[in-house]
Amino acid sequence: MIKRIGVLTSGGDAPGMNAAIRAVTRAAIAKGLEVFGIHDGYLGMYENRIERLYRKSVSEKMRIGGTFLGTARLKEFDRKEVRQMALDNLHKYQIDGLVVIGGDGSYRGGLDLSNMGMAVVGVPGTIDNDIGGTDYTIGFDTAINTAVDAVDKLRDTSNSHRRCSIIEVMGRNCGDIAIWTAMAVGAEVCICKEFGIDLQEVIDNVRKAAQSKRHAIIVVAENMVSVEELARQVTENTPFEARATVLGHIQRGGSPTVRDRVYASMMGVKAVAALIEGKSHHCVCYRKGKIAVIPIEEALIDNNTDLLEKYEIFKLLW
Ligand code: F6P
Repeated sequence: MIKRIGVLTSGGDAPGMNAAIRAVTRAAIAKGLEVFGIHDGYLGMYENRIERLYRKSVSEKMRIGGTFLGTARLKEFDRKEVRQMALDNLHKYQIDGLVVIGGDGSYRGGLDLSNMGMAVVGVPGTIDNDIGGTDYTIGFDTAINTAVDAVDKLRDTSNSHRRCSIIEVMGRNCGDIAIWTAMAVGAEVCICKEFGIDLQEVIDNVRKAAQSKRHAIIVVAENMVSVEELARQVTENTPFEARATVLGHIQRGGSPTVRDRVYASMMGVKAVAALIEGKSHHCVCYRKGKIAVIPIEEALIDNNTDLLEKYEIFKLLW
């Protein structure tokens, strides 16, 4: 039976991570466990920056964006000797269970740690919504609301100037932020890995928009095309002058939405329950309306299955 757990956030921060830390801390204390917060993810674990957390340590944190524990991307964590040093630090505090809140890279680190004997349960925290086995990752809802708010503002100026706005959103290699944003703003085009890119279709859709309105919106997932170059093409081949905007890290900030706070809370509680039940190399997921626990390996498989259906819906709306 575990007695002391550690909690950390790792990888890109996501709104709602604080709610997850709070839930882990409060649920664990309620079950009689001691909780330790690890600063800056695996980096703080390696550097022994670990502090005891109490109920009060997590007060007033839920509504704040980012992660109050800090986060980092530690490439060196794929080296066994680095992980061993980090593990030795956990042993100094007699920590026997770990909750890792983060994305797929953080899960890989967690899996490696569990293979070295630490009980690890992951909680999906990334704005990208790109973790397998779960329909939802903490931070996604806040990020898409931020993106939609930004595009709505860009539409005002596009409309005034008779322009096409081309907006690049985040997502690493996943199109979910782009697809949801494009759907919510009624974009003319959505360019992402899942839908592909057809320049002629882009031009045709923008020309079609120009026949009946004063602006057009193109949402582009990052790592797909140069939005500046696309703006040049649209300006040359359609009646609209185009402007490109890269939304960037603004999508990672801000107070989490209700959905992110609530899912983070439920997932944090579930992670603690899983550790108490004796689970390791598992992670929490949201599937078919329920919070569940699955092996981490399952979460590392890409299984976005409903995208083609979404594409068909888009084509009807364009
Ligand atoms: O994984 C979250 C994310 O924001 C991705 O959408 C993006 O590609 C990446 O992180 C950016 O990472 P960084 O903040 O390290 O530049």
